[in-house]
Amino acid sequence: MEQLPYSEKVMDHFMNPRNVGEIPDASGIGTVGNPVCGDVMKMFLKIENNVIVDAKFKTFGCGAAISTSSMVTEMVKGKTIEEALKISNKAVAEALGGLPPIKMHCSVLAEEALRSALKDYYKRQGKEVPFEIEEHKHEH
Ligand code: FES
Repeated sequence: MEQLPYSEKVMDHFMNPRNVGEIPDASGIGTVGNPVCGDVMKMFLKIENNVIVDAKFKTFGCGAAISTSSMVTEMVKGKTIEEALKISNKAVAEALGGLPPIKMHCSVLAEEALRSALKDYYKRQGKEVPFEIEEHKHEH
């Protein structure tokens, strides 16, 4: 049998995703769609004193999207907003032991959902959003 092009970590986070669900009293919620495939990711963040104390997600998407959502929610917990903003889709993919090149666009969804949830947080606080959600060039 041909070996799957996914690392063990990707498979693990796909089979046993961490932090699936919703946070009813979330501080920020971000929903993003992937223009490449139409998959959708929703991220919930609980923020206290500038620190992300909880993160959950719901992803209607492929395995790589689920794995990267799971990983990014693990990575942001305990981080300050500034630290969380430094997490790139590449960093998420690396933490998972890499993704096949054609699946890198799936990890973009995780980064954008995180930034979108943070943007929502700033809006709810009535504060100006101190960053832009980058428009990534998606590879086809
Ligand atoms: Fe849609 Fe992976 S194929 S996010």
